[in-house]
Amino acid sequence: PTQRVGGKPVDGFKKVAHSRPMLSLDNAYNEAELRAWEVRVRAGLVGGDEVRYTCELKLDGLSLALHYTSEPKSGLRLERGLTRGDGTTGEDVTSNVRTIRSIPLNLSTERLRVAGLEGVGGFEVRGECVMPQAAFRKLNAEREAAGQAPAANPRNAAAGTIRTLEPNVVAQRRLDFYAYFLLSGAGSERAGEMLLGSQEAALEALGRMGMRVNPQVTTVDSIEAVLEFIARCEPLRETLGYEIDGVVVKVDAVSQQRRLGFTGKAPRWAIAYKFAAQAGVTQLDGVLFQVGRTGKVTPVAKLRPVAIGGTTVARATLHNADEIARLGVKIGDFVSVERGGDVIPKITGVVLDQARGMEEIVFPGECPACGSGLVREEGEVDWRCVNASCPARLREELIHFGARGVMNIEGLGKAMVGQLLGQVGEGVSGSELLPPTITLDSVLRDYGAPEFEAKVSEAGVPVTSGRLVLVRSLADLYWLRKEQLVALDRVGEKTAQALLDEIARSKKAPLARLLLGLGMRFVGTRTAGLLAEHFGSMDALMTASVDELTRVNEVGPKVAEAVWEWFAEPRNVALIERLREAELTFTAEKRVTTTTLEGKIFVLTGTLPTLTREVAKERIEAAGGRVSGTVSKTTSYVVAGEDAGSKLEKARGLGVEVVDEAGLLGLLGAGRA
Ligand code: IVH
Repeated sequence: PTQRVGGKPVDGFKKVAHSRPMLSLDNAYNEAELRAWEVRVRAGLVGGDEVRYTCELKLDGLSLALHYTSEPKSGLRLERGLTRGDGTTGEDVTSNVRTIRSIPLNLSTERLRVAGLEGVGGFEVRGECVMPQAAFRKLNAEREAAGQAPAANPRNAAAGTIRTLEPNVVAQRRLDFYAYFLLSGAGSERAGEMLLGSQEAALEALGRMGMRVNPQVTTVDSIEAVLEFIARCEPLRETLGYEIDGVVVKVDAVSQQRRLGFTGKAPRWAIAYKFAAQAGVTQLDGVLFQVGRTGKVTPVAKLRPVAIGGTTVARATLHNADEIARLGVKIGDFVSVERGGDVIPKITGVVLDQARGMEEIVFPGECPACGSGLVREEGEVDWRCVNASCPARLREELIHFGARGVMNIEGLGKAMVGQLLGQVGEGVSGSELLPPTITLDSVLRDYGAPEFEAKVSEAGVPVTSGRLVLVRSLADLYWLRKEQLVALDRVGEKTAQALLDEIARSKKAPLARLLLGLGMRFVGTRTAGLLAEHFGSMDALMTASVDELTRVNEVGPKVAEAVWEWFAEPRNVALIERLREAELTFTAEKRVTTTTLEGKIFVLTGTLPTLTREVAKERIEAAGGRVSGTVSKTTSYVVAGEDAGSKLEKARGLGVEVVDEAGLLGLLGAGRA
């Protein structure tokens, strides 16, 4: 044990590139989707090939990559443990990983021999780190006793634990690790590729060398047998002592895995079969109204805490006013609650044969955070706060801006954002939902008022009711000073400097990330990337007309208008100018992505291997083409899939060009992405 814990706190985590990206999995939610996956797998392999499937539990934790390297004469030793990070680059959490008892620190030559891996120079083990439910309950009891917000679920608790800077603390939390991949070592030419010829062999070898491998595993040769395994595993959920949310099915033979390859973010040779949500019944104690980044107001149910599948649920979303009406729910009602894997629980109905509640749920007319009138646009279900400087919105904007995959500002999490906005001590930390107390905070009500400006302390820091408010716009981040940060509760020199460094570093983030960070409606990662690529600069984008925006591949009128409107708002233009002054990255490499299919008429026939009809049609239309149902002389292309019928014949008769799915993707310029 003394070997495991160094006892010293760690300074922060180094970023390390993965040997191969740590991808995620596509999901199947029912038998039909699983069977559809099998059809795709077979279609991707040589006809008649036998396919075997290895089925494993889908553990609900976080993935880790462990690198073992050779130690002269004494086998291998654990050199490094990385988190998944953004998939490409992880964080070096070795000192924490070393405290996990199910992870061997050394693998003796004898163990390697037993595993059939004698003489191997090193390898990488990937697997899932989980927090057992018992450890999770203990942790939350402690947190509550200490007046801290409880962790939402064991997965979050495990992820938080592995990233704490105190290996001692990690050691006490009793994390577990289950191995599921054995890959060639970083030194090898094939680093990050499967070390052995099949998944079954890999699990076998991992088990023999002393890694913990989940005992619930099987390799079978039909999808029927896969379904049987799934049916056997689902009831285990209640008794395992750790959370699972499904079964992962992997094509067993590595040769076949290679042939199938990957889509952008997931292997084609594996799929996650997700179990149905778990449900429970409890009483609705009240409703609070949460204001999101776009101003959308979401009603959130406060529930009498209830255990559902190992976690305590005390909050659930009610989505919107229409949903409340549809459910006919009142405060005091007993309601059924469903908990899916990674979503906030939701209320699915009122239990009618229990005592009914009496109190109507009243949707507020004003924003609970800033008091301005809520607006509901025609044809939309959501009520929105349209006050661009609403503090609740700013809070969400900041959290989004700093998030991983956006501007990646480490240290700018919920708790820090709360501090920067002067919301400390209002229960913001840890909880995913905005507590009602914040919304009534007088500091925030005064926020933006002219008197506020007057209350600037000598340090250049605005002070209201004894609270520091350091940030009033995204751009303010880039003008923060160390003295200001150190003045916040529980922020020392080191934390302050680390945050400033991260903020400074984010100036180099590519334009696409910045666009994503600005949080325009409908602009996600992909659209932000396309916009940056197409226009090549913030200035070109800012001055683009709706028409010009629509000419970007995959950008339709709805998105184009949202982007245009965002830049039409003077407050946003001012924000851009301040970001320019702070020297953020305003240019990107320009690539022409203009619509290529203008005026072209397509006819779809047969089943395409990966695209559904709807998706194919959407993509053709987004690129400026049109889809028609009948083949004629004016048809530009017929896209033919499996079992194409008379339309294909007709096309051939008329000499119309016929393409398959790959041909269509080529025309759409998908190769570029
Ligand atoms: S295979 C590229 N096997 O599920 C292959 N993943 O939804 C991905 N997970 O990021 C990993 N149990 O964190 C695999 N038996 C298992 C798993 C498993 C849990 C997690 C893993 C992954 C996520 C994808």
